[in-house]
Amino acid sequence: MGLSREILLWASRNEWLQKHVPRWRFVRYSVRRFMPGEDVSAAFAEAERFQQQGIFTVFTRLGENIEDLSEAEAVTQHYLEVLAEIKRRNLPTEISVKLTQLGFDLSEETTLANFRRLAEVAEREKNWVWIDMESSEYVDRTLAFYETVRQEFHRVGLCLQSYLYRSYDDLERLLQKPAAIRLVKGAYKEPRHIAFPKKRDVDANYFRMAERLVQDFGRNTVRAAIATHDVGLIGRIRARAHELGVADKDFEVQMLYGIRPAEQLRLASEGVRMGVLISYGESWYPWYMRRLAERPANVLFVLKNLFVK
Ligand code: FDA
Repeated sequence: MGLSREILLWASRNEWLQKHVPRWRFVRYSVRRFMPGEDVSAAFAEAERFQQQGIFTVFTRLGENIEDLSEAEAVTQHYLEVLAEIKRRNLPTEISVKLTQLGFDLSEETTLANFRRLAEVAEREKNWVWIDMESSEYVDRTLAFYETVRQEFHRVGLCLQSYLYRSYDDLERLLQKPAAIRLVKGAYKEPRHIAFPKKRDVDANYFRMAERLVQDFGRNTVRAAIATHDVGLIGRIRARAHELGVADKDFEVQMLYGIRPAEQLRLASEGVRMGVLISYGESWYPWYMRRLAERPANVLFVLKNLFVK
């Protein structure tokens, strides 16, 4: 892991910075590149624009590790309202949640109850709820949680991270049953005994996991999303999918709002099933630091905004 990435990931968890940095105007200005606004109405406006371009969207309200169950209730209520609004506007928009935002650090029982309320609506309305994967201390519990809810609901997906040594085996096990998997590289600071320290190994494991997933693309019991901005990697996985007879309409790619927008349009225009994850909300600091860590050159962009009036 590069030093700058390490520093930015450390900063993402630093309490003093978390309290102060979001007040700095030039940082607030820079965040706009990765999120259309703090309010969900900005996300809805963008979702409508993407819909016209043949791109579906996934909403996520920023925030993690809440400290009081009343906050988890407010988040659940918020997502219920979002699901209702998606239906009202007839948008191809799904939601993605962090379990620690629904109370995972405080009560697994309440988290399950909150999640069920969302999954029930998604199931009824033929929508989807994705579960984000957080740092490695949560992986066992998140997998167990996903497997529990999948016994009741089909329209629930899980994120797996290729930087973890364990993820290939987790994938293989999950694919023994109907599953929905979003494959990412991984965004947290993890020790070398848990995660590949070298990027090229993370990328190689991503390809290996994607190759395994591709075999099940189009199988109606498996939904698989290639979630990365690594265009070369997407190209190789897509070529492998073609070799296996997978049509582009069954090949799903997801990217984050504001990253590689031209590529998003190109893939959608070529008939790939293209989705964009849109984040919004006030608690953007740790998430934004992880975005900077993915590409430390982004820090230059932040600094340039020091001079924006
Ligand atoms: P990589 O980092 O190799 O980047 C490939 C190229 O993409 C770069 O060369 C650059 O051009 C561009 N790029 C990537 N990040 C950029 C950035 N921040 N700014 C500008 N350009 C950038 N992680 C996690 O741990 N848990 C989760 O639940 C999720 N969920 C999730 C959903 C979706 C839809 C996506 C796309 C990603 C996630 N992630 C995630 C984040 C993921 O783990 C990873 O950190 C980022 O996707 C960046 O890695 P890439 O796969 O893009 O590759």
